[in-house]
Amino acid sequence: MTWYPTPTPSQAGRAVLVTGANAGLGFFTSARLAKAGAHVVLSGRDPDRLAAAVAAIRGRIPAASVETLVIDVASLDSVRAGVDRLLDRAPLDTVVLNAGMVHTPATRHESVDGHELVLATNVLGHFALLGGTLPHLAPAARVITIGSLSTRLSTFRTGDLQLRRSYDAWRAYAQSKIAASALAFELDRRLRRAATDAAESVGAASVTPRVHSLIAHPGYSISGRTPRVPGVNEPTRVERFADALQSPFAQGKHRGADVIVHAAAADDVEGGQFWGPRYEVKGPPSLGTPTRTSRDPAIGAAVWAFAEEAVGAAFDVEAVGR
Ligand SMILES: NC(=O)c1ccc[n+]([C@@H]2O[C@H](COP(=O)([O-])OP(=O)(O)OC[C@H]3O[C@@H](n4cnc5c(N)ncnc54)[C@H](OP(=O)(O)O)[C@@H]3O)[C@@H](O)[C@H]2O)c1
Repeated sequence: MTWYPTPTPSQAGRAVLVTGANAGLGFFTSARLAKAGAHVVLSGRDPDRLAAAVAAIRGRIPAASVETLVIDVASLDSVRAGVDRLLDRAPLDTVVLNAGMVHTPATRHESVDGHELVLATNVLGHFALLGGTLPHLAPAARVITIGSLSTRLSTFRTGDLQLRRSYDAWRAYAQSKIAASALAFELDRRLRRAATDAAESVGAASVTPRVHSLIAHPGYSISGRTPRVPGVNEPTRVERFADALQSPFAQGKHRGADVIVHAAAADDVEGGQFWGPRYEVKGPPSLGTPTRTSRDPAIGAAVWAFAEEAVGAAFDVEAVGR
């Protein structure tokens, strides 16, 4: 199986940050953008796993421009330290908010900051990361939030985002992806508002936002259909066999990365879009329709206010969006 199933437009000169880059979709997204010439900052919580990912990429592309950045997105201190290091570097052209807990715990756990752990990992860490780095993004940068089909399969309770009253493993995952999607579209709305205000103040007709916030979802992408990469993806024979049985409705993570790479690199991409595989669970990148809940401005504003309070920082998009 090739790591590079489809060609990627040149990314030379572009700087990319990928969270959760040491495995799965984040790894293949990083490898493919690096092959296309981007400088890729691979972020993850474990230095050894990050080193294995970099070694794997350099094993294929010795000249790859890659570096690592340790961030545990479940810890706000770790995120703040990572933001400080990013602010010392060149502005980012693409940020892929990919890190996530996919296999969520059966019982409710809390992060070091006292937030429900899946929410902390899949939502709040990225919100804080973005809040810190948004002023440092390059013009026309793309912020790509990884969405999920689970957003179509669960209700959403803005009154219990910490799941104190109603935790279960599936709800924790689905709620986190709905919340992350709602924040991605809320960011797009705020960026557009800032751009419109700025245009009106100088009598200009229309402007595009300074930064594009959009969603890419990878369908159903599983390890056992993914190339073996030492230290990165080493499914057992049993997992390969079990995953082969799912092949009619599943793809490898290297193929799931097609949609994310498209969102990062293709010309026909802009803020507010929702990209996914053409056949929902698999297939080439295709523009899709997000759920009404994730696009609802009232829900977006509520989740935004909740996230600001949870991370203890206001996020002034209007000031940086112009
Ligand atoms: N696979 C799918 O079918 C699918 C479908 C829809 C959406 N998604 C989304 O796609 C993203 C990646 O999923 P995947 O299938 O590639 O999962 P994966 O193979 O389990 O990879 C998850 C990545 O996130 C990292 N991560 C987890 N917790 C972290 C933390 N606290 N701090 C920093 N990094 C952390 C993991 O690092 P460690 O190795 O250290 O754990 C790993 O690098 C997730 O956001 C997921 O919700 C996946």
